[in-house]
Amino acid sequence: MLGRLAATRLLEIRQAFRRAAQTSRSFSSALNYHIDSPDNNPDMPWEFNSQNQEKVKEIISHYPSNYKQSAVIPLLDLAQQQHGGWLPVSAMNAVAKVIEVAPIRVYEVATFYSMFNRTPVGKYHLLVCGTTPCMIRGSREIEDALLKHLGVKRNEVTKDGLFSVGEMECMGSCVNAPMITVADYSSGSEGYSYNYYEDVTPKRVVEIVELLRKGEKLPPGTQNAKRIMSGPEGGNTTLLTDPKPPPCRDLDAC
Ligand code: FES
Repeated sequence: MLGRLAATRLLEIRQAFRRAAQTSRSFSSALNYHIDSPDNNPDMPWEFNSQNQEKVKEIISHYPSNYKQSAVIPLLDLAQQQHGGWLPVSAMNAVAKVIEVAPIRVYEVATFYSMFNRTPVGKYHLLVCGTTPCMIRGSREIEDALLKHLGVKRNEVTKDGLFSVGEMECMGSCVNAPMITVADYSSGSEGYSYNYYEDVTPKRVVEIVELLRKGEKLPPGTQNAKRIMSGPEGGNTTLLTDPKPPPCRDLDAC
């Protein structure tokens, strides 16, 4: 019986991989390279404004003077906030100058962490998890549905500036795969939030887009009404009673 179940599951996984291979999605290189453009090149002047220069001093004061480079992440975050939610290459170069490292050291960090946007994004930046568990559970169909509904390519911003679609690697919600994150910059880049929407379907992500367009705040988490948080669909099937207390641990009394 177990053998037949395992074989059926294996077949389902093979079919999911085959479906994934047939979708139009190609792997993005947007996360790891930069090409100079008129509005994003190292010749563009960029520096922290006077208010943020005070914040830079304060951030750097948290680290030993010979480890200024440890401030790279909060400084990139500050630069991204100052630049309206994305980081041009000249802002990364400015951060490198402040912490006295070669610019490549800053690029390495900015390209690794996908919360740093190296191109402009929409007020709602929708990030589809593309790692294996979400991919097997249909993330490519989710991305296709978003791109088709919004009429954009990956990493393009809709004409009204409201939406863009990107990709992320595993966001730790594999148990509720597939899932997306909505980076919400609608309250300005300083007040942005990241919300996870899990157990999504192509239909549900389109509904989420339309609710966001109306300015509605959606409760994040699972979108499967039969599941509580990340518990099993339909309720618990094991551990149905309170666990027994631990055995006596007082060695003198036992
Ligand atoms: S694979 Fe998507 S959250 Fe882990």
